Amino acid sequence: MARGELMKKLLASYGRDEEFRAVAEQIIDEEERKNNRVLAKSLRRTLESGPSRPSRPKALAPLIPFPEAAGEFVELIEPTRTKQNIILSSENVRVFIGLLKEFRRTEEIQRRGLAVRSKLLFCGPPGCGKTLCAEVFAHELGLPLYVVKLDRLISSYLGETAANVRKIFEFARKQACVLFFDEFDALARARDDSGEHNELRRVVNSLLIFIDRITPKGFLIAATNLDRALDPAVWRRFDEVIWFDQPDRRMIERFLRMKFRNVAVAFDPIGHAHELGGYSYAEIDRISVQAVKSAVIDRRKEVTESDFLAALADERRRRHGSARLTQPG
Ligand SMILES: Nc1ncnc2c1ncn2[C@@H]1O[C@H](COP(=O)(O)OP(=O)(O)OP(=O)(O)O)[C@@H](O)[C@H]1O
Ligand SMILES: [Mg+2]
Repeated sequence: MARGELMKKLLASYGRDEEFRAVAEQIIDEEERKNNRVLAKSLRRTLESGPSRPSRPKALAPLIPFPEAAGEFVELIEPTRTKQNIILSSENVRVFIGLLKEFRRTEEIQRRGLAVRSKLLFCGPPGCGKTLCAEVFAHELGLPLYVVKLDRLISSYLGETAANVRKIFEFARKQACVLFFDEFDALARARDDSGEHNELRRVVNSLLIFIDRITPKGFLIAATNLDRALDPAVWRRFDEVIWFDQPDRRMIERFLRMKFRNVAVAFDPIGHAHELGGYSYAEIDRISVQAVKSAVIDRRKEVTESDFLAALADERRRRHGSARLTQPG
C-alpha cells in the first residue's frame, strides 16, 4: 500500500489500540520489504516500548476454554455498563484507579517481588452498587466477567463439586478475568449451618482455601451485605475491602442528575433529593424509571413532578409492605 494511504489509515485508527497497532505493523513490514532495515527495526522498537495497555480480550473470547463442567454454577456476563453508569464516592474512585494502575503494571511489580492486589471484598447494604461495580470494573479492565452462583454451587455440594471448584480456580489463575462471587454471605451462612454436614463443610472450607492460595491473573471479587458479621477468617483472605454505602444527600443529587440527564422534565428532580434520604440507589433508580415510564405510557414528552411523586409514593408503599413481611409475629 502506498505510504500516503498507510499514513491516512494510521491517523484514522487513532484511539483504537488494536487497529492502530495493525496499521503500524503494516508500515514496519513495508519498510522491511523496501530493505530499510534500520528504520524498520527502530520503528518496531518504538512500537514495542509504547505505553502498554491491557489488551482487551476480544469481546469475551477467552484464550483458555472455560471448564465446561463448572458451567452449571458459573455464568459468563458481558459487561455492558461503564463508569458513566455508576456513582461512586471519591474515596472509592481513588481506590479503583489505584487498582487499575496496579493491574496495568503487574509485570513490573511482580518483577520486584511484590504482590499485586487482586482479591477484593465488596461490602455494603443491598442496592448500593456492589454487583454493578463488579461489572463496571470488568469493563474498565477489558476483562470478561465470570459470576459464580454460590448458592447453586453450595447446594450441589455432593459429587464433583469440589473438583469443579478446583477447575474454576485453575482457570482464574491462568486466564485474566474477573471471577465474581456474588452473595458471598451464602458461604458464611453455609459455614454456620453445616453443623454435622461434613461434605458441605468440606466444600466451603476448600473454597476458602482456594481463595487463600490463588493469585488470580485478573481479579477475584466477592460481594456481601453482611459486614462486620463476616467471620475474620473470611476477611483476612482479601487484599482490599471496599465499602458501598447508602447514598447521602450529595450522592443522591448526583444520582438524580445522572438518571435525568437525557430526560425531558417539567420539574427539578434535584429538588426532591431531601425526600430520598435512607433509600438505596436501587430504590431511587426504580422511582426514577417508574416516573419516566408514566410519561411514556401517557404519551407525554415531559416527565412531571406528579409522575415522580406517584413513583415515590409507590416505593414507600412497597417499603412499608416489605417491613411488614420482615416484622416478627
Ligand atoms: N452506586 C450506584 N450507582 C448507580 N446505580 C446504582 C448504584 N448502586 C445501585 N445502582 C442501581 O441499582 C441496581 C442494583 O444495584 P446492585 O445490584 O449493584 O446492588 P448490590 O449492592 O449488589 O445489592 P445486593 O446486596 O442486593 O446484591 C443497579 O443495577 C443500578 O441500576
Ligand atoms: Mg449484588
